[in-house]
Amino acid sequence: MDRIRIRGGNPLLGTISIGGAKNAALPLMAASLLTSQKLTLSNLPHLVDITTMVHLLAELGVAISMDGNVSNGGNFGRALTLVASEPVQKIAPYDLVRRMRASVLVLGPLLARWGQATVSLPGGCAIGTRPVDIHLGAFKALGAEIELKEGYIKAHAKKGLKGANILFPSVSVGATENVMMAATLAEGETQISNAAREPEVGDLANCLVAMGANIEGIGTDTLKVTGVSELKGANHEVIPDRIETGTYAVAAAMTGGDIIMKGTRLELLNALADVLAKAGVEIAGDGTTVRVRRVNSSLKGTDLMTEPYPGFPTDMQAQVMALLAVADGVSMITETIFENRFMHVPELCRMGADINVHGSSAIVRGVPTLSGAQLMATDLRASVSLVLAGLAANGETFVNRVYHLDRGYERVEEKLSACGAEIERISDG
Ligand code: UD1
Repeated sequence: MDRIRIRGGNPLLGTISIGGAKNAALPLMAASLLTSQKLTLSNLPHLVDITTMVHLLAELGVAISMDGNVSNGGNFGRALTLVASEPVQKIAPYDLVRRMRASVLVLGPLLARWGQATVSLPGGCAIGTRPVDIHLGAFKALGAEIELKEGYIKAHAKKGLKGANILFPSVSVGATENVMMAATLAEGETQISNAAREPEVGDLANCLVAMGANIEGIGTDTLKVTGVSELKGANHEVIPDRIETGTYAVAAAMTGGDIIMKGTRLELLNALADVLAKAGVEIAGDGTTVRVRRVNSSLKGTDLMTEPYPGFPTDMQAQVMALLAVADGVSMITETIFENRFMHVPELCRMGADINVHGSSAIVRGVPTLSGAQLMATDLRASVSLVLAGLAANGETFVNRVYHLDRGYERVEEKLSACGAEIERISDG
């Protein structure tokens, strides 16, 4: 199993290219199931999760070809064309779905276009129970019959889906995407209230509109989808990855560095930029680049709470906790999205951080420095928070089980070492 070795202490200086958003790319790829015509997606990142979605769609009979550099350990990259003629089967098997929770996003498109779908109950990061009840409740409201049997979701809509008014009990990114996709081919109008407003949901909606869907309220918490009889092909460029952008922003801030990130947009960062500014980090940019540097010699503690967009993203919580661990003063971090998302805390404490968890809040008492240690990655964002801590720590850090990192960060060691970090991947065969 690969490990990452880091010798901390170097400030990050230079330029980093930001890839397309994984969390936008995955639902966009699933949207190819909605049409028999060609969907071309560009600016896709090279990531294990993208490869998993390629395998899942291929299993469902989608013909996929790629255009771009595929030399990155077999991961599929850059531009993909997807053509979903007649699917060979409508079953998403356990072996693929268990690797990635986003696999459940094929359920809505399959059900809408073919009237049936069988999808394994999902796995993914171990950051909470992460049920799919909100997805299933909405499909039932659209007229589907749902059965849970032998670890599988079996859904049928023999007479097709019918538009309905759906009020989500709580905000779910995946459920909003799944139900919005299904509603594009349902008969009549569907209103989704309390919808997620994440930029990745908006990106999917814009692509669906380019495919001929009728969607109003994009970017708001109320989406109105008027069903059409069929969708057509489209070309769509995936939006930049705001979490990758934010992660490198934190890396620059923690190491006292100064970096420019290309291919990304400041407007995607809003709540994170506010928190970084309060911590004493200068973050500026425009529609194509973001520059981050630390203004003062030390960072300042600040409080934050994760919330659905436009609030502070849960996917940045672990990274910002690593930063606050070395900031002056006391910070409080409250996690409201996932119930088990503090698994990085014991690992950060092994590096000398002073963090106490009380239920869904963590009190972070800043320490002057962290020290390198042997660490275990537990989930995607926790893994990268340990890499960030290692970059700022004294001495050597080893992050074990880095396969989590490869699900969401493309060439992380390469991008960081190009900016002066001492970091390498050690393959143990
Ligand atoms: C997506 C992102 C993930 C991010 C999360 C929250 C992708 C591929 N993944 O995950 O990186 O951390 O949004 O921003 O885009 N819930 C239910 N029932 C459901 C669905 C969700 O109770 O049917 C709960 C979840 O357990 C969680 C909360 O709702 O506590 C939010 O989950 P959701 O927004 O659905 O996250 P994902 O779409 O899985």
